[in-house]
Amino acid sequence: MSVGANPLRDPQDRRLPRIAGPCSLVIFGVTGDLARKKLMPAVYDLANRGLLPPGFALVGFARRDWADQDFAKVVHDAVKEHSRTPFREETWRQLSEGFRFVPGEFSDDRAFDKLRTTVEELDEARGTSGNHAFYLSIPPGAFPDVVGQLKEHGLATGAGGSWRRVVIEKPFGHDLASARQLNDVVSEVFPQEAVFRIDHYLGKETVQNVMAFRFANAMFEPVWNSHYVDHVQITMAEDIGIGGRAGYYDGIGAARDVIQNHLLQLMALIAMEDPTSFEAGNLRREKQKVLASVAIPDGLNLHTARGQYARGWQGGQQVIGYLDEADISRRSTTETFAAIRLDIENRRWAGVPFYLRTGKRLGRRVTEVAVVFKRAPHLPFTQTATEELGQNALVMRIQPDEGVTLRFGAKVPGTAMELRDVNMDFAYGGAFVESSPEAYERLILDVLLGDPPLFPQHEEVELSWQILDPIIKGWAANGRPDPYPAGSWGPESADEMLARDGRTWRRP
Ligand code: BG6
Repeated sequence: MSVGANPLRDPQDRRLPRIAGPCSLVIFGVTGDLARKKLMPAVYDLANRGLLPPGFALVGFARRDWADQDFAKVVHDAVKEHSRTPFREETWRQLSEGFRFVPGEFSDDRAFDKLRTTVEELDEARGTSGNHAFYLSIPPGAFPDVVGQLKEHGLATGAGGSWRRVVIEKPFGHDLASARQLNDVVSEVFPQEAVFRIDHYLGKETVQNVMAFRFANAMFEPVWNSHYVDHVQITMAEDIGIGGRAGYYDGIGAARDVIQNHLLQLMALIAMEDPTSFEAGNLRREKQKVLASVAIPDGLNLHTARGQYARGWQGGQQVIGYLDEADISRRSTTETFAAIRLDIENRRWAGVPFYLRTGKRLGRRVTEVAVVFKRAPHLPFTQTATEELGQNALVMRIQPDEGVTLRFGAKVPGTAMELRDVNMDFAYGGAFVESSPEAYERLILDVLLGDPPLFPQHEEVELSWQILDPIIKGWAANGRPDPYPAGSWGPESADEMLARDGRTWRRP
Protein backbone atom coordinates (compact mmCIF):
# COMPACT_ATOMS: atom_id res chain seq x y z
CA MET A 1 0.00 0.00 0.00
CA SER A 2 1.42 3.41 -0.88
CA VAL A 3 2.34 5.84 1.83
CA GLY A 4 -0.61 7.94 2.89
CA ALA A 5 -3.24 5.53 1.53
CA ASN A 6 -6.23 5.04 3.77
CA PRO A 7 -6.39 1.35 4.79
CA LEU A 8 -10.14 1.62 5.39
CA ARG A 9 -10.86 2.82 1.88
CA ASP A 10 -12.04 0.25 -0.63
CA PRO A 11 -10.71 1.37 -4.04
CA GLN A 12 -13.81 -0.09 -5.73
CA ASP A 13 -16.17 2.05 -3.70
CA ARG A 14 -17.13 4.94 -5.94
CA ARG A 15 -19.38 6.54 -3.33
CA LEU A 16 -16.40 7.89 -1.44
CA PRO A 17 -14.87 10.96 -3.03
CA ARG A 18 -11.62 10.05 -4.71
CA ILE A 19 -9.08 12.29 -3.04
CA ALA A 20 -5.39 12.18 -3.90
CA GLY A 21 -2.97 11.30 -1.11
CA PRO A 22 0.10 13.40 -0.23
CA CYS A 23 2.02 14.26 -3.40
CA SER A 24 3.33 16.87 -5.80
CA LEU A 25 3.00 17.48 -9.52
CA VAL A 26 6.10 18.68 -11.36
CA ILE A 27 5.35 20.21 -14.76
CA PHE A 28 8.02 20.45 -17.45
CA GLY A 29 7.05 22.87 -20.19
CA VAL A 30 5.23 25.07 -17.76
CA THR A 31 5.39 28.11 -20.05
CA GLY A 32 3.51 26.31 -22.83
CA ASP A 33 -0.08 26.75 -23.93
CA LEU A 34 -1.26 23.43 -22.54
CA ALA A 35 0.07 24.17 -19.06
CA ARG A 36 -1.52 27.61 -19.04
CA LYS A 37 -4.88 26.76 -20.57
CA LYS A 38 -5.48 23.28 -19.21
CA LEU A 39 -3.06 21.92 -16.60
CA MET A 40 -2.83 24.81 -14.12
CA PRO A 41 -6.58 25.52 -14.22
CA ALA A 42 -7.31 21.80 -13.74
CA VAL A 43 -5.04 21.66 -10.68
CA TYR A 44 -6.86 24.65 -9.24
CA ASP A 45 -10.28 23.16 -10.00
CA LEU A 46 -9.29 19.91 -8.30
CA ALA A 47 -8.10 21.85 -5.24
CA ASN A 48 -11.32 23.86 -5.25
CA ARG A 49 -13.36 20.67 -5.34
CA GLY A 50 -11.43 19.40 -2.31
CA LEU A 51 -9.85 16.54 -4.25
CA LEU A 52 -6.21 17.40 -3.55
CA PRO A 53 -4.49 16.84 -0.21
CA PRO A 54 -3.93 19.94 1.94
CA GLY A 55 -0.14 19.81 1.48
CA PHE A 56 -0.27 19.36 -2.32
CA ALA A 57 2.62 20.99 -4.18
CA LEU A 58 2.95 22.21 -7.77
CA VAL A 59 6.44 22.59 -9.16
CA GLY A 60 7.20 24.37 -12.43
CA PHE A 61 10.38 23.71 -14.39
CA ALA A 62 11.32 25.92 -17.33
CA ARG A 63 14.00 28.03 -18.91
CA ARG A 64 12.94 31.27 -17.25
CA ASP A 65 14.58 33.46 -14.71
CA TRP A 66 11.66 33.24 -12.30
CA ALA A 67 11.37 33.06 -8.54
CA ASP A 68 8.54 31.12 -6.88
CA GLN A 69 6.43 34.28 -6.76
CA ASP A 70 6.78 34.89 -10.50
CA PHE A 71 5.59 31.36 -11.14
CA ALA A 72 2.71 31.89 -8.73
CA LYS A 73 1.69 34.97 -10.71
CA VAL A 74 1.68 32.97 -13.96
CA VAL A 75 -0.46 30.26 -12.38
CA HIS A 76 -2.74 32.89 -10.91
CA ASP A 77 -3.37 34.51 -14.31
CA ALA A 78 -3.93 31.14 -15.95
CA VAL A 79 -6.39 30.10 -13.25
CA LYS A 80 -8.28 33.40 -13.37
CA GLU A 81 -8.65 33.12 -17.11
CA HIS A 82 -9.27 29.43 -17.66
CA SER A 83 -10.48 27.65 -14.54
CA ARG A 84 -13.91 26.06 -14.58
CA THR A 85 -14.90 26.65 -10.97
CA PRO A 86 -15.15 30.07 -9.27
CA PHE A 87 -12.03 31.70 -7.87
CA ARG A 88 -11.87 31.41 -4.09
CA GLU A 89 -9.18 33.21 -2.10
CA GLU A 90 -9.11 30.45 0.49
CA THR A 91 -8.40 27.70 -2.05
CA TRP A 92 -5.83 29.87 -3.75
CA ARG A 93 -3.97 30.72 -0.55
CA GLN A 94 -3.60 27.13 0.51
CA LEU A 95 -2.67 25.90 -2.96
CA SER A 96 -0.14 28.64 -3.68
CA GLU A 97 1.84 27.88 -0.53
CA GLY A 98 2.89 24.71 -2.31
CA PHE A 99 4.18 26.43 -5.48
CA ARG A 100 7.87 26.11 -6.34
CA PHE A 101 9.79 27.05 -9.45
CA VAL A 102 13.02 25.53 -10.71
CA PRO A 103 14.73 27.50 -13.49
CA GLY A 104 16.93 25.68 -15.95
CA GLU A 105 17.58 23.92 -19.23
CA PHE A 106 16.81 20.23 -19.68
CA SER A 107 20.51 19.52 -20.07
CA ASP A 108 21.49 21.44 -16.95
CA ASP A 109 22.64 19.13 -14.13
CA ARG A 110 22.50 21.87 -11.55
CA ALA A 111 18.85 22.53 -12.33
CA PHE A 112 18.00 18.87 -11.74
CA ASP A 113 19.99 18.91 -8.48
CA LYS A 114 17.88 21.88 -7.52
CA LEU A 115 14.74 19.98 -8.51
CA ARG A 116 15.79 17.14 -6.27
CA THR A 117 16.41 19.38 -3.26
CA THR A 118 13.11 21.10 -4.03
CA VAL A 119 11.05 17.91 -3.85
CA GLU A 120 12.94 16.84 -0.73
CA GLU A 121 12.15 20.17 0.85
CA LEU A 122 8.50 19.68 -0.11
CA ASP A 123 8.48 16.28 1.54
CA GLU A 124 9.52 18.04 4.74
CA ALA A 125 7.59 21.27 4.51
CA ARG A 126 4.37 20.07 2.83
CA GLY A 127 4.38 16.39 3.74
CA THR A 128 4.39 15.19 0.12
CA SER A 129 5.88 11.92 1.42
CA GLY A 130 8.21 11.25 -1.51
CA ASN A 131 5.28 10.94 -3.97
CA HIS A 132 5.94 12.92 -7.12
CA ALA A 133 4.46 12.92 -10.62
CA PHE A 134 6.48 14.40 -13.49
CA TYR A 135 4.36 15.83 -16.29
CA LEU A 136 6.22 16.11 -19.60
CA SER A 137 4.35 18.79 -21.48
CA ILE A 138 7.31 19.18 -23.84
CA PRO A 139 8.19 18.22 -27.44
CA PRO A 140 9.04 14.51 -27.75
CA GLY A 141 12.56 15.47 -28.86
CA ALA A 142 13.22 16.63 -25.30
CA PHE A 143 12.02 13.39 -23.64
CA PRO A 144 15.39 11.57 -23.64
CA ASP A 145 17.08 14.51 -21.89
CA VAL A 146 14.44 14.96 -19.22
CA VAL A 147 13.83 11.29 -18.53
CA GLY A 148 17.59 10.65 -18.41
CA GLN A 149 18.10 13.54 -16.01
CA LEU A 150 15.32 12.32 -13.74
CA LYS A 151 17.06 8.97 -13.53
CA GLU A 152 20.55 10.38 -13.03
CA HIS A 153 19.48 12.70 -10.29
CA GLY A 154 17.69 10.01 -8.36
CA LEU A 155 14.24 11.43 -9.08
CA ALA A 156 12.76 8.51 -11.01
CA THR A 157 12.39 6.07 -8.12
CA GLY A 158 10.84 6.68 -4.73
CA ALA A 159 12.09 5.21 -1.50
CA GLY A 160 10.21 3.30 1.19
CA GLY A 161 6.94 2.67 -0.62
CA SER A 162 6.59 6.15 -2.07
CA TRP A 163 5.84 6.51 -5.79
CA ARG A 164 7.19 8.32 -8.82
CA ARG A 165 5.14 8.59 -12.00
CA VAL A 166 5.68 10.12 -15.40
CA VAL A 167 2.93 11.66 -17.50
CA ILE A 168 3.47 11.87 -21.25
CA GLU A 169 1.54 14.13 -23.59
CA LYS A 170 1.01 13.18 -27.19
CA PRO A 171 2.34 13.04 -29.83
CA PHE A 172 3.79 9.64 -28.96
CA GLY A 173 6.11 9.76 -31.94
CA HIS A 174 5.20 10.54 -35.54
CA ASP A 175 5.12 6.95 -36.80
CA LEU A 176 5.53 3.41 -35.51
CA ALA A 177 9.33 3.46 -35.50
CA SER A 178 9.62 6.75 -33.61
CA ALA A 179 6.91 5.70 -31.15
CA ARG A 180 8.94 2.60 -30.37
CA GLN A 181 12.09 4.63 -29.86
CA LEU A 182 10.25 6.97 -27.53
CA ASN A 183 8.88 4.07 -25.59
CA ASP A 184 12.36 2.57 -25.23
CA VAL A 185 13.62 5.81 -23.76
CA VAL A 186 10.81 6.04 -21.23
CA SER A 187 10.64 2.37 -20.29
CA GLU A 188 14.35 2.26 -19.57
CA VAL A 189 13.73 4.60 -16.65
CA PHE A 190 10.13 4.07 -15.56
CA PRO A 191 8.31 0.75 -15.12
CA GLN A 192 5.12 0.37 -17.20
CA GLU A 193 2.79 0.97 -14.30
CA ALA A 194 4.46 4.34 -13.60
CA VAL A 195 3.89 5.65 -17.15
CA PHE A 196 0.67 7.58 -17.82
CA ARG A 197 0.08 8.47 -21.48
CA ILE A 198 -2.49 11.21 -21.87
CA ASP A 199 -5.19 11.03 -24.50
CA HIS A 200 -7.37 13.79 -23.15
CA TYR A 201 -10.43 12.51 -25.03
CA LEU A 202 -10.58 9.58 -22.62
CA GLY A 203 -10.90 12.07 -19.77
CA LYS A 204 -14.07 13.55 -21.25
CA GLU A 205 -17.29 12.58 -19.49
CA THR A 206 -19.08 12.00 -22.78
CA VAL A 207 -16.37 9.61 -23.96
CA GLN A 208 -16.63 7.59 -20.76
CA ASN A 209 -20.36 7.65 -21.27
CA VAL A 210 -19.87 5.62 -24.46
CA MET A 211 -19.01 2.73 -22.14
CA ALA A 212 -21.90 3.46 -19.79
CA PHE A 213 -24.29 3.67 -22.70
CA ARG A 214 -23.14 0.42 -24.27
CA PHE A 215 -22.57 -1.73 -21.22
CA ALA A 216 -25.08 -0.49 -18.65
CA ASN A 217 -28.06 -0.89 -20.96
CA ALA A 218 -29.73 -3.91 -22.49
CA MET A 219 -31.62 -2.36 -25.39
CA PHE A 220 -28.78 -1.21 -27.65
CA GLU A 221 -26.59 -4.30 -27.65
CA PRO A 222 -28.85 -6.45 -29.89
CA VAL A 223 -28.61 -3.91 -32.72
CA TRP A 224 -24.94 -3.04 -32.23
CA ASN A 225 -23.57 -5.11 -35.10
CA SER A 226 -23.44 -5.58 -38.84
CA HIS A 227 -26.99 -6.98 -39.00
CA TYR A 228 -28.42 -3.58 -38.12
CA VAL A 229 -25.66 -1.00 -38.45
CA ASP A 230 -24.99 0.33 -41.93
CA HIS A 231 -21.91 2.39 -41.06
CA VAL A 232 -20.42 4.59 -38.35
CA GLN A 233 -19.25 8.20 -38.75
CA ILE A 234 -16.86 9.71 -36.23
CA THR A 235 -16.37 13.43 -36.66
CA MET A 236 -14.17 15.85 -34.80
CA ALA A 237 -14.51 19.28 -36.36
CA GLU A 238 -12.88 22.46 -35.16
CA ASP A 239 -13.63 25.99 -36.22
CA ILE A 240 -10.23 27.30 -35.16
CA GLY A 241 -7.15 27.30 -37.38
CA ILE A 242 -3.71 26.34 -36.12
CA GLY A 243 -3.35 29.55 -34.12
CA GLY A 244 0.22 29.96 -32.94
CA ARG A 245 1.04 26.26 -33.18
CA ALA A 246 2.86 26.22 -36.54
CA GLY A 247 5.97 24.72 -34.96
CA TYR A 248 4.07 21.74 -33.67
CA TYR A 249 1.47 21.30 -36.39
CA ASP A 250 3.31 21.72 -39.68
CA GLY A 251 4.62 18.36 -40.81
CA ILE A 252 2.33 16.62 -38.31
CA GLY A 253 -1.11 17.30 -39.76
CA ALA A 254 -4.65 16.29 -38.91
CA ALA A 255 -4.27 12.51 -39.15
CA ARG A 256 -1.36 12.30 -36.72
CA ASP A 257 -2.69 15.07 -34.48
CA VAL A 258 -6.19 13.71 -33.97
CA ILE A 259 -7.01 10.46 -35.78
CA GLN A 260 -4.04 8.46 -34.42
CA ASN A 261 -5.17 9.09 -30.87
CA HIS A 262 -8.59 10.63 -30.17
CA LEU A 263 -10.57 9.20 -33.08
CA LEU A 264 -9.09 5.70 -32.98
CA GLN A 265 -9.76 5.59 -29.24
CA LEU A 266 -13.36 6.63 -29.85
CA MET A 267 -13.69 3.99 -32.53
CA ALA A 268 -12.28 1.34 -30.20
CA LEU A 269 -14.80 2.23 -27.49
CA ILE A 270 -17.70 2.09 -29.94
CA ALA A 271 -16.60 -1.20 -31.48
CA MET A 272 -15.11 -3.22 -28.62
CA GLU A 273 -16.66 -6.19 -26.86
CA ASP A 274 -17.64 -5.73 -23.23
CA PRO A 275 -14.63 -5.93 -20.93
CA THR A 276 -14.83 -8.36 -18.02
CA SER A 277 -14.43 -5.33 -15.77
CA PHE A 278 -13.20 -1.77 -16.07
CA GLU A 279 -9.87 -2.75 -14.59
CA ALA A 280 -7.17 -1.26 -16.84
CA GLY A 281 -5.88 -4.56 -18.21
CA ASN A 282 -9.35 -5.79 -19.17
CA LEU A 283 -10.34 -2.56 -20.84
CA ARG A 284 -7.12 -2.22 -22.80
CA ARG A 285 -7.30 -5.81 -23.98
CA GLU A 286 -10.70 -5.24 -25.60
CA LYS A 287 -9.63 -1.99 -27.21
CA GLN A 288 -6.48 -3.61 -28.55
CA LYS A 289 -8.49 -6.41 -30.12
CA VAL A 290 -10.46 -3.86 -32.12
CA LEU A 291 -7.37 -1.96 -33.23
CA ALA A 292 -5.67 -5.21 -34.22
CA SER A 293 -8.68 -6.14 -36.40
CA VAL A 294 -8.65 -2.95 -38.44
CA ALA A 295 -8.09 -3.25 -42.18
CA ILE A 296 -7.59 -0.39 -44.58
CA PRO A 297 -9.65 -0.94 -47.72
CA ASP A 298 -7.73 -1.27 -50.99
CA GLY A 299 -7.30 1.94 -52.95
CA LEU A 300 -6.04 4.74 -50.77
CA ASN A 301 -7.33 7.41 -53.13
CA LEU A 302 -10.79 5.92 -53.13
CA HIS A 303 -11.23 5.62 -49.38
CA THR A 304 -9.37 8.56 -47.90
CA ALA A 305 -9.43 12.30 -48.44
CA ARG A 306 -7.24 15.08 -47.17
CA GLY A 307 -7.50 18.82 -47.35
CA GLN A 308 -5.86 22.07 -46.39
CA TYR A 309 -7.88 25.13 -45.44
CA ALA A 310 -7.80 28.08 -47.78
CA ARG A 311 -9.00 31.60 -47.12
CA GLY A 312 -12.66 31.87 -46.19
CA TRP A 313 -15.29 33.16 -43.79
CA GLN A 314 -15.64 31.99 -40.23
CA GLY A 315 -18.04 33.40 -37.67
CA GLY A 316 -18.68 36.43 -39.86
CA GLN A 317 -14.98 37.19 -40.25
CA GLN A 318 -12.63 36.66 -43.11
CA VAL A 319 -9.79 34.33 -42.11
CA ILE A 320 -6.53 33.46 -43.83
CA GLY A 321 -5.63 30.13 -45.37
CA TYR A 322 -3.16 27.64 -43.90
CA LEU A 323 -0.38 28.60 -46.28
CA ASP A 324 -0.65 32.23 -45.17
CA GLU A 325 -0.40 31.41 -41.46
CA ALA A 326 2.72 32.66 -39.67
CA ASP A 327 5.75 30.36 -39.93
CA ILE A 328 4.15 28.03 -42.47
CA SER A 329 6.01 27.39 -45.69
CA ARG A 330 4.01 28.44 -48.75
CA ARG A 331 4.65 24.98 -50.14
CA SER A 332 3.59 23.02 -47.06
CA THR A 333 1.72 19.80 -47.85
CA THR A 334 0.51 19.30 -44.27
CA GLU A 335 -3.15 18.30 -44.20
CA THR A 336 -5.53 20.22 -41.93
CA PHE A 337 -8.42 17.91 -42.85
CA ALA A 338 -8.33 14.13 -43.01
CA ALA A 339 -11.03 11.56 -43.66
CA ILE A 340 -10.42 7.83 -43.77
CA ARG A 341 -12.47 4.70 -44.04
CA LEU A 342 -11.52 1.77 -41.85
CA ASP A 343 -12.99 -1.73 -41.79
CA ILE A 344 -13.03 -3.88 -38.70
CA GLU A 345 -12.62 -7.48 -39.61
CA ASN A 346 -14.39 -9.42 -36.92
CA ARG A 347 -17.71 -11.14 -36.63
CA ARG A 348 -19.53 -8.15 -35.16
CA TRP A 349 -18.39 -5.53 -37.67
CA ALA A 350 -17.43 -7.21 -40.95
CA GLY A 351 -18.96 -5.15 -43.76
CA VAL A 352 -19.62 -2.04 -41.64
CA PRO A 353 -17.34 0.83 -42.65
CA PHE A 354 -16.13 3.24 -39.97
CA TYR A 355 -15.58 6.70 -41.44
CA LEU A 356 -13.33 8.97 -39.40
CA ARG A 357 -12.89 12.65 -40.22
CA THR A 358 -11.33 15.63 -38.58
CA GLY A 359 -10.37 19.11 -39.63
CA LYS A 360 -9.53 22.62 -38.63
CA ARG A 361 -11.45 25.68 -39.85
CA LEU A 362 -14.58 23.66 -40.52
CA GLY A 363 -18.18 24.85 -40.22
CA ARG A 364 -18.30 24.66 -36.44
CA ARG A 365 -16.70 23.00 -33.42
CA VAL A 366 -18.34 19.65 -32.89
CA THR A 367 -17.32 16.11 -32.03
CA GLU A 368 -19.82 13.30 -32.47
CA VAL A 369 -20.14 9.61 -33.18
CA ALA A 370 -23.05 8.66 -35.40
CA VAL A 371 -24.09 5.03 -35.63
CA VAL A 372 -26.20 4.93 -38.78
CA PHE A 373 -28.61 2.02 -39.13
CA LYS A 374 -29.74 0.11 -42.20
CA ARG A 375 -33.05 0.95 -43.76
CA ALA A 376 -36.05 -1.14 -42.80
CA PRO A 377 -36.07 -4.18 -45.11
CA HIS A 378 -39.55 -3.41 -46.33
CA LEU A 379 -41.49 -0.14 -46.27
CA PRO A 380 -45.24 -0.68 -46.67
CA PHE A 381 -45.78 2.96 -47.67
CA THR A 382 -46.08 4.74 -50.95
CA GLN A 383 -42.90 6.18 -52.32
CA THR A 384 -44.06 9.74 -51.76
CA ALA A 385 -44.75 8.98 -48.09
CA THR A 386 -41.12 8.03 -47.49
CA GLU A 387 -39.39 10.65 -49.63
CA GLU A 388 -38.23 12.56 -46.56
CA LEU A 389 -37.32 9.51 -44.52
CA GLY A 390 -33.64 8.98 -43.83
CA GLN A 391 -31.80 6.24 -41.98
CA ASN A 392 -32.19 5.73 -38.24
CA ALA A 393 -29.19 7.02 -36.36
CA LEU A 394 -27.90 7.09 -32.85
CA VAL A 395 -25.64 10.06 -32.32
CA MET A 396 -23.39 10.43 -29.31
CA ARG A 397 -22.72 14.13 -28.99
CA ILE A 398 -19.27 14.29 -27.43
CA GLN A 399 -19.07 18.10 -27.47
CA PRO A 400 -20.40 20.75 -27.27
CA ASP A 401 -24.10 20.34 -26.41
CA GLU A 402 -23.20 17.01 -24.77
CA GLY A 403 -25.79 14.28 -25.02
CA VAL A 404 -27.27 11.54 -27.16
CA THR A 405 -29.71 11.83 -30.04
CA LEU A 406 -31.83 9.08 -31.49
CA ARG A 407 -33.08 9.83 -34.98
CA PHE A 408 -36.01 7.92 -36.37
CA GLY A 409 -38.98 8.31 -38.70
CA ALA A 410 -42.37 9.58 -37.54
CA LYS A 411 -45.70 10.38 -39.14
CA VAL A 412 -46.16 14.00 -40.01
CA PRO A 413 -49.53 15.10 -38.50
CA GLY A 414 -52.17 15.36 -41.20
CA THR A 415 -54.70 13.39 -43.14
CA ALA A 416 -52.18 11.57 -45.31
CA MET A 417 -49.37 9.18 -44.41
CA GLU A 418 -46.19 11.15 -44.71
CA LEU A 419 -43.00 10.28 -42.89
CA ARG A 420 -40.13 12.41 -41.74
CA ASP A 421 -37.11 12.09 -39.47
CA VAL A 422 -37.42 13.35 -35.89
CA ASN A 423 -34.98 13.43 -32.96
CA MET A 424 -35.25 12.19 -29.42
CA ASP A 425 -32.68 13.89 -27.23
CA PHE A 426 -30.85 13.34 -24.00
CA ALA A 427 -28.89 16.43 -22.91
CA TYR A 428 -26.48 16.41 -19.99
CA GLY A 429 -27.46 19.97 -19.17
CA GLY A 430 -31.10 18.94 -18.70
CA ALA A 431 -30.58 15.61 -16.94
CA PHE A 432 -27.84 16.43 -14.44
CA VAL A 433 -27.39 19.47 -12.25
CA GLU A 434 -23.64 19.13 -11.87
CA SER A 435 -21.51 20.45 -14.71
CA SER A 436 -18.97 18.07 -16.18
CA PRO A 437 -15.38 18.34 -15.00
CA GLU A 438 -12.76 19.10 -17.63
CA ALA A 439 -10.93 16.10 -19.05
CA TYR A 440 -7.66 17.21 -17.48
CA GLU A 441 -9.18 17.36 -14.01
CA ARG A 442 -10.14 13.73 -14.24
CA LEU A 443 -6.85 12.63 -15.78
CA ILE A 444 -4.56 14.53 -13.40
CA LEU A 445 -6.52 13.16 -10.46
CA ASP A 446 -6.21 9.63 -11.84
CA VAL A 447 -2.44 10.07 -12.19
CA LEU A 448 -2.14 11.23 -8.59
CA LEU A 449 -4.30 8.31 -7.45
CA GLY A 450 -2.39 5.86 -9.65
CA ASP A 451 -5.59 4.80 -11.40
CA PRO A 452 -4.68 3.62 -14.92
CA PRO A 453 -7.82 2.58 -16.94
CA LEU A 454 -8.10 5.85 -18.86
CA PHE A 455 -4.50 5.83 -20.04
CA PRO A 456 -3.54 3.92 -23.20
CA GLN A 457 -0.54 1.64 -22.91
CA HIS A 458 2.20 1.42 -25.46
CA GLU A 459 0.56 -1.53 -27.28
CA GLU A 460 -2.44 0.63 -28.19
CA VAL A 461 -0.18 3.40 -29.41
CA GLU A 462 1.73 0.94 -31.60
CA LEU A 463 -1.44 -0.53 -33.05
CA SER A 464 -2.72 2.95 -33.89
CA TRP A 465 0.46 3.80 -35.76
CA GLN A 466 0.27 0.52 -37.61
CA ILE A 467 -3.13 1.62 -38.92
CA LEU A 468 -2.04 5.11 -39.84
CA ASP A 469 1.49 4.62 -41.15
CA PRO A 470 0.55 3.20 -44.58
CA ILE A 471 -2.06 5.92 -45.08
CA ILE A 472 0.34 8.74 -44.29
CA LYS A 473 3.06 7.15 -46.40
CA GLY A 474 0.65 6.80 -49.31
CA TRP A 475 -0.37 10.44 -49.05
CA ALA A 476 3.23 11.63 -48.88
CA ALA A 477 3.92 9.91 -52.20
CA ASN A 478 0.81 11.30 -53.78
CA GLY A 479 0.60 15.04 -54.41
CA ARG A 480 -0.95 17.67 -52.19
CA PRO A 481 -4.02 17.97 -49.98
CA ASP A 482 -7.08 19.48 -51.68
CA PRO A 483 -7.85 23.06 -50.66
CA TYR A 484 -11.18 23.81 -48.94
CA PRO A 485 -12.53 27.22 -47.97
CA ALA A 486 -12.33 28.00 -44.25
CA GLY A 487 -15.79 27.65 -42.72
CA SER A 488 -16.84 24.84 -45.06
CA TRP A 489 -17.06 21.10 -44.26
CA GLY A 490 -13.86 20.06 -45.98
CA PRO A 491 -12.77 19.35 -49.55
CA GLU A 492 -15.08 17.94 -52.20
CA SER A 493 -12.91 14.83 -52.29
CA ALA A 494 -14.30 13.93 -48.84
CA ASP A 495 -17.88 14.00 -50.18
CA GLU A 496 -16.83 12.03 -53.24
CA MET A 497 -15.19 9.44 -51.01
CA LEU A 498 -18.50 8.73 -49.30
CA ALA A 499 -20.52 9.06 -52.49
CA ARG A 500 -18.49 6.19 -53.98
CA ASP A 501 -19.85 4.03 -51.15
CA GLY A 502 -23.38 5.35 -51.77
CA ARG A 503 -23.39 7.42 -48.57
CA THR A 504 -23.19 11.04 -47.41
CA TRP A 505 -21.60 12.75 -44.43
CA ARG A 506 -23.93 13.90 -41.74
CA ARG A 507 -24.05 17.64 -41.24
CA PRO A 508 -23.46 17.77 -37.47
C1 BG6 B 1 -5.50 18.19 -29.32
C2 BG6 B 1 -4.96 18.56 -30.68
O1 BG6 B 1 -5.12 16.88 -28.99
O2 BG6 B 1 -6.91 18.29 -29.32
C3 BG6 B 1 -5.42 19.92 -31.08
O3 BG6 B 1 -3.54 18.52 -30.65
C4 BG6 B 1 -6.91 20.07 -30.94
O4 BG6 B 1 -5.01 20.23 -32.40
C5 BG6 B 1 -7.37 19.59 -29.56
O5 BG6 B 1 -7.25 21.43 -31.11
C6 BG6 B 1 -8.87 19.60 -29.46
O6 BG6 B 1 -9.30 19.25 -28.18
P1 BG6 B 1 -10.80 19.46 -27.73
O7 BG6 B 1 -10.84 18.88 -26.35
O8 BG6 B 1 -11.06 20.93 -27.78
O9 BG6 B 1 -11.65 18.71 -28.70
